[in-house]
Amino acid sequence: MNIDNIVIIGFMGSGKTTLGTMLSEYFEYEFIDTDDCIEKNAGMSITEIFEKYGEEYFRELEENTIKNVSQKRSVIISTGGGVIKNKNNIDNLKKNGIIIFLKANAEKIYNNTIDFDNRPLLNTADRRGTIEKLLEERTPLYEKYSDIIIDVSSMTVDESFEAFVHIIKKYYAK
Ligand code: S3P
Repeated sequence: MNIDNIVIIGFMGSGKTTLGTMLSEYFEYEFIDTDDCIEKNAGMSITEIFEKYGEEYFRELEENTIKNVSQKRSVIISTGGGVIKNKNNIDNLKKNGIIIFLKANAEKIYNNTIDFDNRPLLNTADRRGTIEKLLEERTPLYEKYSDIIIDVSSMTVDESFEAFVHIIKKYYAK
């Protein structure tokens, strides 16, 4: 099977990095997490970038990173949840890849993120409300920009992985 880049988009805490890592092992593709690239290049964490320079600057770093990694071939790319805020990112990612939206409901996202404080946008007084509001704003964009949607809201990690592999194989068998 000859597949191009597999790009995973979706909300914070939907499991993009976990699944991306599993898929990279399965398909023997290099795994790239764009947030990791941003942190390595900046020499600081996402939280520090937001604190010191603000979200706008983070989005510039994100756009540059996406532009670079989009040029690669045969890689699995896990993106930050806000990647869909900038259409240039999507245009770049689509050049060599298919885009898969890993869809998860607010409940799952809340449970997956509650033990972590490494996502500046969720460090609000009302995390649940913030998740719901952002999900409402962003879901139409994730849906619009993706080639494939997988709703993992009621799936375990293993079930999500199985579903992913099945759907990717089916997509390329067309
Ligand atoms: C963000 C998601 C984060 C990270 C940054 C902003 C967002 O990535 O890029 O905190 O705007 O949704 P994850 O989706 O990997 O948590």
